[in-house]
Amino acid sequence: MIDEAISFVRELFKDDFTGHDFDHTMRVYKLSIELSKNLDVDIDRLSLIALLHDVDDYKLFKDSEDHPNARRFLNSFGYKDIEPILNDIDDISFKGTDSKIPSTIEGKIAQDADRLDALGAIGIARAFAYGGSHKRKLYDEDDKNRSMSSFSEYKSSNSSTRAHFYEKLLHLKDMMNTIPGKREAIRRTDYMSSFLDELEKEI
Ligand code: ADP
Ligand code: NI
Repeated sequence: MIDEAISFVRELFKDDFTGHDFDHTMRVYKLSIELSKNLDVDIDRLSLIALLHDVDDYKLFKDSEDHPNARRFLNSFGYKDIEPILNDIDDISFKGTDSKIPSTIEGKIAQDADRLDALGAIGIARAFAYGGSHKRKLYDEDDKNRSMSSFSEYKSSNSSTRAHFYEKLLHLKDMMNTIPGKREAIRRTDYMSSFLDELEKEI
């Protein structure tokens, strides 16, 4: 089933250039397994959550609220506990000040892994890929005045890519669930902060 889930996401994301490609999902999957070491988790459940976490992302798919893609995949295996998996997937996504913490350890770990992939060198690359694909400017004068907002404001924001660091990315290190996740988030955020300092100097 895990192999099939990998094939499913490889096909689904093959035309993505917004930073949510197949490689993103695989990094989140591998990071999730890494973060779960020494914790008492259901590895199959964790793997499914990590692999399916973006298959119904509102930023990528229309009418995705009821998780049609994840449902179709899990149903095709006659999987029993679909709703709890979908609840965890719902809670993983960043929603500004309305962000949630998944209720299970598997959801918490996958959330940390997804957030780590928005940080560091890979996070910078993904942010600018997303910004470019959405026709966003690289930066604006007032980016540094941005802060975390409600989900509805965050969703409708059309700000520059640099603003995204101030409205989301720099806050993630304070929203981590696991100890190794937090440690790695701090390391990646330090790297991102030096990038922002350098960017400011060059601008
Ligand atoms: P989430 O589900 O928490 O929104 P994802 O794993 O779907 O997180 O990935 C979000 C990715 O898209 C991140 O790398 C993030 O930087 C990028 N992204 C989302 N919104 C923007 C934006 N407005 N500007 C630049 N990058 C963005
Ligand atoms: Ni993701």
